[in-house]
Amino acid sequence: MDELVALCKRRGLIYQSSDIYGGLQGVYDFGPLGVELKNNIKKAWWESMVYENDDIEGLDSAILTNPLVLKYSGHEETFSDPLVDCKSCGLRFRADQVPDKCKQEDLTEPRQFNLMFKTNVGPIEDGDSFAYLRPETAQQIFTNFKNVIDSTSKSLPFGIAQIGKAFRNEITPRNFIFRVREFEQMELEYFVKPGTDEDIHNSWVQKRIDWWVEQGVPMESIELYEVPGEELAHYSKRTIDLMYKFPHGVEELEGIANRTDFDLGSHSKKQDDLNIKSSVSRNKDSNSKLAVQEESGEWIVPYVIEPSAGVERGFLAIINEAYNVESLNDGKSRVVLKLKPHLAPIKAAVIPLKKNNEEMVNLSKLVKENLQKLGLGRIIFENTGNIGKSYRKHDEIGTPLCITIDFESLDDKTVTVRDRDSMKQSRVEFDKLSDFLINIIKN
Ligand code: GLY
Repeated sequence: MDELVALCKRRGLIYQSSDIYGGLQGVYDFGPLGVELKNNIKKAWWESMVYENDDIEGLDSAILTNPLVLKYSGHEETFSDPLVDCKSCGLRFRADQVPDKCKQEDLTEPRQFNLMFKTNVGPIEDGDSFAYLRPETAQQIFTNFKNVIDSTSKSLPFGIAQIGKAFRNEITPRNFIFRVREFEQMELEYFVKPGTDEDIHNSWVQKRIDWWVEQGVPMESIELYEVPGEELAHYSKRTIDLMYKFPHGVEELEGIANRTDFDLGSHSKKQDDLNIKSSVSRNKDSNSKLAVQEESGEWIVPYVIEPSAGVERGFLAIINEAYNVESLNDGKSRVVLKLKPHLAPIKAAVIPLKKNNEEMVNLSKLVKENLQKLGLGRIIFENTGNIGKSYRKHDEIGTPLCITIDFESLDDKTVTVRDRDSMKQSRVEFDKLSDFLINIIKN
């Protein structure tokens, strides 16, 4: 973990937020390369969910949430952790995470501590005009259920996918970006007919494993965890967690839950007409019937299968897998981030062999501009004048291809390309460079 944290800071992937004022615990900023990698992870998820499945639509809802949403979702009542204070050291811990140095007799009885952040809405701070920062992106998918059906004419089964920020006031944020207070989720709510839920749940577990494998997290690094009854979230009938061997231990990478009809049933009006199977509180405030009508005329509340992944946890697993220290023939070693090319923050670096050779510099800029237009992601022109140093840097940040413009390039319209993983160099004609790069990034 220490090596990953150091690499992330050194190369501009991740910084502690508000660092110049001592930081803010459990909050991180993504630097110039981190934002690229993070965006690429989100893009891969979005493409695999929304673009590859005609039965899934996207959504981008607000972070500020009407408290009624989180009242009826059950979060106000149940979204909490047990908390103890140590009378000796004065610190506060989650009841199951008290460090050895604190003695049992010094601890207070556990109290429930709600994890949701509140903020004032409007100019008056009277305690009544507040909103929550959403603790999961899922809720606005449920509250927009009827809007999406009405505007897209979807029928079951279908899904709504969303990527966005969520906030949890974790008592003890820790393990770098693993457990943080501000983070991003990639969540799908897939609505199905009751009775088909268990099979569809299992099929989503497999689809999600396959997706992680495509992002460079191998099957051997993922374990399935059947969440036992007493650990299930209040809305879940069954949850399978994909567990990953993070540098600090085996923990959840993604949870795939069967949320039954709990959420739509909880947020719906006219609950008594809807044959809701889960136990929901009476809703006196909703103005929408969150159900679908069968051909028989009967109204049913769909069950929901929810694959829910944290972007930061995915980021950490992906760089952990990609991080390699390799011994070289000359007795030295190199750090290389063997990211899948579609995730690499920079797709190619174009480097003139001689920093002050105008012809080479201009040609390099032209090559960069042309490759940039392919829309594959960021291509950079890099004029350091030190090819060896550039190769080392691009190995460390996972750039799949370095393209060097040298003296031969000026004569014969070819360039030297160097492959990140094999370090092999070959010559490619200008005209073939686009296809060469597309082939690396897309395959
Ligand atoms: N929506 C599931 C979760 O946030 O844990």
